[in-house]
Amino acid sequence: MDISRLIESIDLVVSSGNLEAVDPQQRAQLFQACDRLKSQCESPVDKTLRLLYTCHQAITVRLAVDLKLFDAIAKRTSESEDGKVRVGQLSEDVKADPKLVGRIMKALVPLDILKQDTSDTFSSTPFAEAYVSTSWMSGALPEYFKQKGWKNPDDIDDSPFNFTLGSKRGYFDYMASNPYYQDAFDTVMASPYRRDEKSWLDYFPVEEKLQVQSPSEVLLVDVGGGRGKDLQAFRDRFPGLQGRLVLQDLSHVTETADIPCEIETQVHNFFDEQPVKGAKAYYLRTVLHDWPDKQAVEILSRIREAMGPDSLVLIHEKAMPETNIPWMAAIGDMTMMTAFSAAERTKNEWETLLNKAGLKLTGFWRPEGASAQQQVIIEGAVRSCEHC
Ligand SMILES: C[S@@+](CC[C@H](N)C(=O)[O-])C[C@H]1O[C@@H](n2cnc3c(N)ncnc32)[C@H](O)[C@@H]1O
Repeated sequence: MDISRLIESIDLVVSSGNLEAVDPQQRAQLFQACDRLKSQCESPVDKTLRLLYTCHQAITVRLAVDLKLFDAIAKRTSESEDGKVRVGQLSEDVKADPKLVGRIMKALVPLDILKQDTSDTFSSTPFAEAYVSTSWMSGALPEYFKQKGWKNPDDIDDSPFNFTLGSKRGYFDYMASNPYYQDAFDTVMASPYRRDEKSWLDYFPVEEKLQVQSPSEVLLVDVGGGRGKDLQAFRDRFPGLQGRLVLQDLSHVTETADIPCEIETQVHNFFDEQPVKGAKAYYLRTVLHDWPDKQAVEILSRIREAMGPDSLVLIHEKAMPETNIPWMAAIGDMTMMTAFSAAERTKNEWETLLNKAGLKLTGFWRPEGASAQQQVIIEGAVRSCEHC
């Protein structure tokens, strides 16, 4: 079977955009055939993620419904000459933080409910029209945003997660007192599915950038490194590179790490003074996306205070594109917002964050042909005073 030709035919049908005209019965048959095809193409991991995150998509739609965003889009579209609507105007219409409105709109793009033209202009679709408040599809009110005046969440203590639990403890504290969830979280963090097929060790020039002069110097500190899977992969891949490898995390996490004895384990709260001074590199993988800017700057500042002139900080995270983000990335952003009042950041936002912590961006490494869903390495170094 020629799969490329099949893909071409499907793309042709989609781009013709006239399926509305097809007989409804045939359309239903086509829809079912697509479902059968999808279920054969979907891997077990993809299927699990889809099942898990479908509710996040529904909640994103619900937020937009409750904000009366679809009503504002319909009104602005009817008044607009080019059919485009702008985040700034809409946020005034619905009296909500423009940053929050932009995030919700971006997350509606991979659901085909909106189309995105530039970073802050969008156009409507028949699906968006279906959600205006006079439509039967409108739903209930999310209390959090109603009470918080539709402000973009940026306070870790006032996250939607805390609001729902009626607590001030935060996600990580909550889990620490619930061993069942803590174990599930740490197991997922350590699982292979969270590690891209294209490992950072393939596209970051490790041997060129990460060298120390003697085996007693620290080569790499994995800050908030969970159960140590990334350091283990590093050691397996570069067994000959000299220098110590140090895994840092909270005690209840490091206790469960199952790693070779040549990797040192250190209990460390990353808001406290960084005990390892002058390491060649401090690596943070999917740590900073759990924290709003205020705390992310504190975490980076504690590292910057310990860095030497040749030290690097390596942030291994997604860098969100400005437009048309894939659905998983959009849901990831909504998840960070809900759990931590945090966000998935763009390259510019990463650079701003580094600058706020007294660091500068010295490299941006991404695997060739990487999708927006794939993680990148954001490399930083201490900003010397002439550049301050
Ligand atoms: C999303 S997980 C990422 C773990 C690992 N870097 C990975 O990518 O698999 C975030 C990690 O930050 C750790 N963490 C949270 N708060 C911390 C704190 N105050 N000090 C040190 N580690 C912390 C968590 O225990 C968890 O292991």
